[in-house]
Amino acid sequence: MENTEVVKPETLDELIKILHEIFESDHINVDEVKAVMEAYESNPQEWKQYAKFDKYRYTRNLVDEGNGKFNLIVLCWGEGHGSSIHDHTDSHCFMKMLQGELKETQFEWPDSKSQGDMVQKSQRILQENKVAYINDSIGLHRVENASHTEGAISLHLYSPPFQTFLFCILPCTGALQTVN
Ligand SMILES: [Fe+2]
Repeated sequence: MENTEVVKPETLDELIKILHEIFESDHINVDEVKAVMEAYESNPQEWKQYAKFDKYRYTRNLVDEGNGKFNLIVLCWGEGHGSSIHDHTDSHCFMKMLQGELKETQFEWPDSKSQGDMVQKSQRILQENKVAYINDSIGLHRVENASHTEGAISLHLYSPPFQTFLFCILPCTGALQTVN
């Protein structure tokens, strides 16, 4: 991935523009998308209009519909908020930290050997500006804001876009909000 040369987006708008260009192609280079998202340095002035927290659960706020090729969504995680363990319905999922930290725990797909128990594959803390990537061939994951004092904000790219925005396993109930 270190050899992937990318243009550094100076603003969120520029990042969106570059993503539109990348996703014009039908072949997605995961390392390129990851690198360009990581190269954008989070600037709260540029995304604060999407940063809407809810006291009880994390929120999803639509940033861009990517010409039908992808969704770009800001998720706001209050203290202690977390997702269920979920898959990504055959989409690529990129998650960039805009503020704070999130804990990502990856799991194997359940099989006959696991007897219904979820087998943990890995766990890591994602820090500001870092980008995580997952798809169904990697496994399932759970994302949590483990902090009891700080909120966390992440920028998610799903391609193909989630049409219904429902996760297959233990669906979340958070509504997708549109912010103009
Ligand atoms: Fe996810």
